[in-house]
Amino acid sequence: MFCMKSDLTKDEIIDYLSNGEKSEELYKSANEIREKYVGKEVHLRGLIEFSNICKRQCKYCGLRSENKNTDRYRILKDEIIEISKRAVEMGYRTLVLQSGEDEYYSADKICEIISEIKKLDVAITLSIGERTFDEYKAFKQAGADRYLLRIETTDKKLYKEMHPNMSYENRLECLYNLKKLGYETGTGCLVGLPNQTVESLANDILFFKEIDADMVGIGPFIPHQNTPLHNEKGGTFELALKVMALTRILLKDINIPATTAMETLNPNGRIIALQSGANVVMPNVTSKEYRSKYEIYPNKICINDSPDKCRNCIEAKIKSIGREISKDYGFRKKS
Ligand code: SAM
Ligand code: SF4
Ligand code: FES
Repeated sequence: MFCMKSDLTKDEIIDYLSNGEKSEELYKSANEIREKYVGKEVHLRGLIEFSNICKRQCKYCGLRSENKNTDRYRILKDEIIEISKRAVEMGYRTLVLQSGEDEYYSADKICEIISEIKKLDVAITLSIGERTFDEYKAFKQAGADRYLLRIETTDKKLYKEMHPNMSYENRLECLYNLKKLGYETGTGCLVGLPNQTVESLANDILFFKEIDADMVGIGPFIPHQNTPLHNEKGGTFELALKVMALTRILLKDINIPATTAMETLNPNGRIIALQSGANVVMPNVTSKEYRSKYEIYPNKICINDSPDKCRNCIEAKIKSIGREISKDYGFRKKS
């Protein structure tokens, strides 16, 4: 069995990211660590993309407010609850509520939605961007369990370039507030942003370790035609996979999703990711009519599929590689 040191220095991380020769041993090692610390089980999180309206202008994202070519929608409370009920009937034990930064959803509205969904006996993850400490506190009290907020990049200069009118310091503060409030806190980065270096990706991985993230989502940046970055090259599946595998090696017991963006670049991307350190998949449970409108990047998978189809599809794929679908809520079990 290939044996890798349990902690890696920044130089070693950079070396893995820069060289292709050692990739296979890296994936194998991450897979072994995944098996040892979090086992065979794959946690499924049902993703509800409930609004594509966003006040931000992140340069990479198709939902940015300046993109006037997107057909915008909001799913209101009753319909979110209906979608949630159907997802629970399908066996999901966690639901992820994700949206653009849409001010229509006041803290009170989000709390009402959380309280209703909690009656269905599921864990709730929120992914609705930057909010105040008091709002995060209210969501927690209403029953939210987890929060996803990617740092996107730890390179402050690049962060500033990618996020007009946003502040890196505030992003960090949000993450620390979430931790302070007792959320299982998820973060992550985009791989392949313009002018991003392997050193900066190594810093991202070390940052995940430093803040002791409970979940880390890593995805390749995929250029969107209606954004200022439409002419950029974008990230590769291989580099995103390496960042993910290195994250597993450093943060052994956390939850790591095989991301949808990985499958967009490689038809077998999620299965390869599950065999290289990942232990979570987030199938889309949003009704078909909205899917194509939540176009963060082009060619997103499953936009013409139904929640049932995705559930059956992913279950079959997971079983085909000898893995099991978890029946519990899938909280991090710290070792
Ligand atoms: N608005 C919330 C936020 O930004 O945290 C949640 C929704 S946002 C669409 C979710 C994630 O999509 C972001 O964290 C970002 O990393 C990813 N994303 C946005 N544009 C992307 C692109 N062009 N390629 C790949 N991922 C992208
Ligand atoms: Fe809005 Fe999130 Fe897209 Fe930024 S990444 S534009 S906050 S939906
Ligand atoms: Fe949606 Fe395969 S996960 S069709």
